[in-house]
Amino acid sequence: MLKRAVIGGLALAVLAGGAGAFAWWRSRKPKPVRQPVQFNHKAHTARGIGCRDCHRGVETGPHATLPALQPEEFVDEGSHIFNHKLHVGEQELKCGACHPSAAKGAEAGLPANLKKCMKCHEGFDENKPAGRKLADLVGDPPQWSRVTTLPAGMKFSHKTHVDKDLACTQCHVGIDASTRVTGAVRVTMATCMSCHAQKQVSTECATCHPTTPKAPLTCLHCHAVPRGNHPDEPKLREYAAKGQAIPWVQVNRLVGHVHFSHVAHVTFARMDCKECHGEMKDMTEPVTVPQIGRLDDMDFCMRCHEEKGVSNDCTRCHK
Ligand code: HEC
Ligand code: HEC
Ligand code: HEC
Ligand code: HEC
Ligand code: HEC
Ligand code: HEC
Ligand code: HEC
Ligand code: HEC
Ligand code: HEC
Ligand code: HEC
Repeated sequence: MLKRAVIGGLALAVLAGGAGAFAWWRSRKPKPVRQPVQFNHKAHTARGIGCRDCHRGVETGPHATLPALQPEEFVDEGSHIFNHKLHVGEQELKCGACHPSAAKGAEAGLPANLKKCMKCHEGFDENKPAGRKLADLVGDPPQWSRVTTLPAGMKFSHKTHVDKDLACTQCHVGIDASTRVTGAVRVTMATCMSCHAQKQVSTECATCHPTTPKAPLTCLHCHAVPRGNHPDEPKLREYAAKGQAIPWVQVNRLVGHVHFSHVAHVTFARMDCKECHGEMKDMTEPVTVPQIGRLDDMDFCMRCHEEKGVSNDCTRCHK
């Protein structure tokens, strides 16, 4: 009898000690991680960039992405035959001779036929590369490949810009000296943004994107050119030059067997990010400790579920 009581007491003591140790383990302060770049949320959200522009997937899937450093590399699959350096330089042709609508409308246009070309090319020595029949190279009417096309839904007009006396090469950098059209003459968001900022033209997202872009916003959309004078800012271009991603440490992470899905809460339950993550728009330091200490606490989840009449079956959250 006594023996059993002792064993019982011991077991209780072990249990109580265990629970105490567990409570201590749960309550200890998590060690801050080191983020590779001192990212400042406030500096960015204050410029009108929404949470969802950087953290894609949060409305449609379980996880929010951490933003990528740079846009996916442009793959040019076109066959380009035209040599701008030769025609603009040596032959002294004006851009407008072949792209006449750049000064008049939204689009610059590409030559619709080979008539103008044939004024010079007629009678070229057919045994030389330049004498090859142009129609054999590109068809007649010609099928030019395009590299500059903007993502769908964007607003842009050549006329607006040409009217402001901007040179073609301010946007299509290097085309006049190129022997072949490549992706280098595309106009990036960084180019648009830095000129707009410099000339005090609107840099509101909606000025150029009347509709929400499909692909996510990356850091180099803006940081391809230097911004501000924070010592960590040039690091972005250093990572990009090395072809590396920024090795962000993901801080908020529930244990693997707990099921959590952003889409259920952000889209279906229409919850604001701050209900769980706090005021991210005012954060000036990177996230280094879990903000969801409160979420570690299962009660936080269950209290709201109860309030909103959502099932609190253990298996709802525990796989
Ligand atoms: C003699 C005609 C001619 C002249 C002059 C000319 N271009 Fe072109 N341009 C073309 C042709 C043809 C193409 C398509 C060629 C190809 O893809 O190989 C082209 C392509 C381009 C492209 C790439 C479009 C795209 O989406 O792929 C840009 C930008 C461009 N030209 C700008 C200019 C500028 C700026 C000038 C003046 C500095 C100029 N061009 C002068 C004929 C001309
Ligand atoms: C003002 C005269 C002139 C016009 C207009 C002209 N070209 Fe040419 N083009 C030349 C000359 C000159 C050469 C060089 C010939 C040589 O090297 O023997 C040349 C060379 C070329 C070559 C050879 C490419 C190379 O890199 O050597 C191609 C392809 C070509 N032109 C395409 C065109 C097309 C397409 C057009 C119309 C959109 C056009 N040209 C309009 C004068 C002209
Ligand atoms: C302010 C920047 C800017 C300037 C200045 C500019 N372009 Fe463009 N250009 C663009 C953009 C952006 C596109 C892609 C447009 C699209 O996809 O709707 C483009 C596309 C083109 C194309 C492809 C065909 C087309 O109609 O879209 C040609 C050719 C071209 N530009 C030539 C020129 C010429 C020639 C000039 C000077 C007279 C010029 N551009 C000035 C930004 C510029
Ligand atoms: C080199 C300077 C420069 C660059 C580069 C530039 N812009 Fe502009 N943009 C201007 C100026 C200046 C105005 C103001 C024009 C006005 O007041 O009529 C303007 C006005 C605009 C407008 C508002 C007027 C309109 O057409 O409705 C849009 C949209 C626009 N730019 C889009 C773009 C896009 C997209 C790019 C990049 C592909 C770009 N811009 C690149 C200088 C630039
Ligand atoms: C002055 C014009 C301009 C402004 C202002 C602008 N963008 Fe862009 N944006 C562009 C151009 C041009 C591209 C396509 C070229 C590129 O990807 O660099 C682009 C690409 C993007 C893309 C990738 C889209 C795709 O389908 O590849 C996203 C996302 C984006 N912008 C979001 C934003 C957000 C968010 C803002 C406001 C903070 C903004 N942009 C402001 C011109 C602009
Ligand atoms: C829509 C444009 C835009 C995008 C996209 C953008 N930034 Fe910035 N960023 C800026 C501007 C503008 C500044 C300058 C702030 C200042 O000096 O006031 C800045 C400043 C910074 C700084 C300096 C810190 C500070 O407190 O000023 C860092 C670091 C930085 N950005 C990192 C990033 C990273 C990482 C990404 C991608 C996740 C990113 N930025 C995406 C526009 C952008
Ligand atoms: C109901 C609470 C809740 C809301 C609302 C919420 N989050 Fe989260 N968030 C979490 C939890 C829990 C995690 C850890 C997820 C895991 O481990 O699976 C997390 C993780 C993240 C992460 C890290 C990457 C990931 O998804 O695993 C990002 C980024 C993030 N949230 C952004 C957002 C943004 C942006 C919003 C608003 C659009 C938002 N969250 C709304 C609870 C929430
Ligand atoms: C310009 C892009 C950008 C914008 C806009 C942005 N974020 Fe972030 N966010 C980041 C980057 C980069 C990190 C990783 C570095 C860090 O932790 O500070 C991050 C980290 C986070 C994390 C922590 C993820 C983890 O590791 O668990 C949360 C939560 C988050 N952001 C929520 C938000 C919310 C909510 C908003 C809107 C108020 C927002 N973000 C706006 C770029 C952005
Ligand atoms: C402020 C209220 C609130 C908080 C806090 C909350 N939830 Fe929810 N949760 C909801 C609502 C409302 C729904 C029902 C959404 C719907 O309409 O499907 C839901 C649904 C769910 C679902 C079922 C949907 C699915 O993805 O299968 C799971 C699992 C879930 N929550 C887990 C969690 C976890 C884990 C936490 C804590 C980290 C949490 N929730 C915190 C309000 C909340
Ligand atoms: C609304 C979602 C939700 C429901 C319902 C839920 N839990 Fe949890 N549970 C959690 C979260 C979130 C944690 C903390 C995970 C972490 O710390 O990363 C947790 C942690 C635990 C832990 C601690 C062990 C660990 O992995 O951290 C136990 C034990 C547990 N839950 C048991 C239960 C039991 C038994 C039920 C049914 C009565 C239940 N849970 C119902 C969300 C839930």
